[in-house]
Order: sequence, then C-alpha cells, then structure tokens
Amino acid sequence: MFLTVIRDAPLTGGQMALLYASDPVILIKKNSRRRRIAFSFFKTMATFEERLNSLDLTLFENIQSQTTEDDRRSLLAIQCAVRERSPGYNYLEIGSHLGGSLQSHLLDDKCSTIYSIDKRPLVQPDERGVRYGYPENSTARMLELLSELAPTEKIITIDGDTKTLDPNVIDEKIQLCFIDGEHTDVATSLDFEFCLDVLDGAGGGSFFTTPM
Ligand SMILES: C[S@@+](CC[C@H](N)C(=O)[O-])C[C@H]1O[C@@H](n2cnc3c(N)ncnc32)[C@H](O)[C@@H]1O
Repeated sequence: MFLTVIRDAPLTGGQMALLYASDPVILIKKNSRRRRIAFSFFKTMATFEERLNSLDLTLFENIQSQTTEDDRRSLLAIQCAVRERSPGYNYLEIGSHLGGSLQSHLLDDKCSTIYSIDKRPLVQPDERGVRYGYPENSTARMLELLSELAPTEKIITIDGDTKTLDPNVIDEKIQLCFIDGEHTDVATSLDFEFCLDVLDGAGGGSFFTTPM
C-alpha cells in the first residue's frame, strides 16, 4: 500500500484536504476528527521505506536533533541514495549528541552497522566564536534514548576524537559518513581525513555540516 497525503491542499469552494489512498480519493474536512484519524492512520500504516522515500521529517521526531529542517531533508535524501546503491550499508557519524541524526539509520533495515564517534566534552569550541555547552553529554544517555526506538545492537560507540583515533578502530568499510562534531576548521579537517581513510572507495558518500 502506498499512501500520499497532501496536507492542507487548497481546494476551491471549501476548506478541504485531500487524502489519496491509492484509489479512490477521499475528501476530509480540514480540522475534522476524521482527518486527524486519517493522518494518524497514515503515520501508523506507512512503512519506514515509504516515510523515508517521502523525506518524512517525522522520522526525526523521537529524539531531538541539532539539525534544521532543510538539513534533515538532505540527510534523508542522502540516506535514500546510499541504501539504494549499497543495501547493507555502514554508517559513520562523528558527533552524535542525543542520537537525533542516528535515528533514521537505526530504523533502517538496510543499514548494517552504525559507528558513532563522539568525544563527549561538556563544552566545545566553534569557529563562529561561541563555546557551545553540552551538559550531561554522555553515550549512555544517547543509547538509552535510542533504545526506546529500536534495539541498539548495531550501534558501535567510540568515545574519542579523530585527532587521536586510529582509523583501524573502524573495522569495516563505510558507505556513508556524517561529520557533525566540533565545528572548527581544524577538527572538521581531521574528521574529513579520517572519513577518507575509512570510506568504501567504490561508491562511498560523505556529508558534513559546519555552518560558518
Ligand atoms: C552538533 S552536536 C551533534 C548533533 C547531532 N549530530 C544531532 O543531529 O543531533 C556535536 C556533538 O559533537 C561532539 N563533539 C564535540 N567535539 C568533538 C570532537 N572533537 N570529536 C567528536 N565529537 C565531538 C559533542 O559531544 C556533541 O555530541
């Protein structure tokens, strides 16, 4: 089953929303109880793949992520491309905080292993000149949050940073890296070099964000 929901589609002659349930089309009054039920039905019934392919941002709703909506759309689109090209892909994330940007990979059957490298400082420098606080920053807390979503056995956590880590700690080739650790030029360059060392040469994808 594939459902496409058009939220608040403007219809002439009345405030209605459209819900396509393949065939037929059902018209549901805006703000009606039936519409709320239909949307919650859609959310429950849509498979993970359908949600991912439609870049459904609710895939980020369970654990807070320090990304913007546009970042999330891009991250989901990249995940779609990588899982299509490399089913069974391995994901490496540098800087995971609460696990917000890990959650869609945890839910993805096509993701075999998740490596999360995080130095877990309580305060970190930033190229923008601000020092960002991460109170109670811990891997245990991240795993606890993620375990409410799905079993976490496929996550390998490494407390540390790429300045001192040997790339051999990653014992599989990685198909997708996301660099979101310390947002300084020096740290990001080191993270990038580390990713180049562990990326699968054929078809590896890499993505990083350092808004400066
Ligand atoms: C911007 S947050 C990550 C946000 C997360 N990706 C998300 O979407 O919610 C930055 C994370 O990088 C970690 N960190 C700070 N310095 C680091 C370093 N040098 N290497 C690896 N991780 C670092 C912090 O502990 C923090 O969890």
